[in-house]
Amino acid sequence: MDHAADITASLREVMREHPAGVVIVTVVVDGRPWGTTLSSFTLASLDPPLVLFCLVSTTTPARAILQEGAFGVSFVTAQNVDVARVASAAGRPKFLDDLAEAPYHGAPPVLRACRGSLTCRLENAVAVGDHTAFIGSVSRVITGPGGPPVAYCDGEYRLLKLT
Ligand SMILES: Cc1cc2nc3c(=O)[nH]c(=O)nc-3n(C[C@H](O)[C@H](O)[C@H](O)COP(=O)(O)O)c2cc1C
Repeated sequence: MDHAADITASLREVMREHPAGVVIVTVVVDGRPWGTTLSSFTLASLDPPLVLFCLVSTTTPARAILQEGAFGVSFVTAQNVDVARVASAAGRPKFLDDLAEAPYHGAPPVLRACRGSLTCRLENAVAVGDHTAFIGSVSRVITGPGGPPVAYCDGEYRLLKLT
């Protein structure tokens, strides 16, 4: 294995055991809500309110976000793990028509029944290697029904418990 491939393999391994919160980013694709499960989401700034995530540049949602200029973010709890699995199924369409709030006034779709959701306007997109870093300004915060928090670690969704 050459040095770069060695680093990639080691990085994959160390990141695999790094626990991460999970969101589903939603965007309109062919007029329908499409959801993609992400762990790279974070708050980038509170004032002004900006969020950030990285998505493989060649994917359907990455292209759609650039085209639409807007996206939704829904926070995953233990009750949404089945949806997160659907929204990360490789090589399959990830339309979530039955789970999305009907978009209104041109707002991007978000999912019902998550811990909460954001609607965001795309502020900037920066190519970062094989991913694109998307920065969005938060236009709306929607409070959801809540639910037990989960983290993704070592290939599994794990319930977070306080000790
Ligand atoms: C928990 C979890 C987190 C993920 N986080 C990201 C991420 O941050 N960025 C990314 O590009 N893909 C991420 N993925 C992969 C995507 O959800 C999806 O599986 C991938 O884009 C393949 O879909 P495609 O075959 O339609 O391109 C994650 C998958 C899982 C299960």
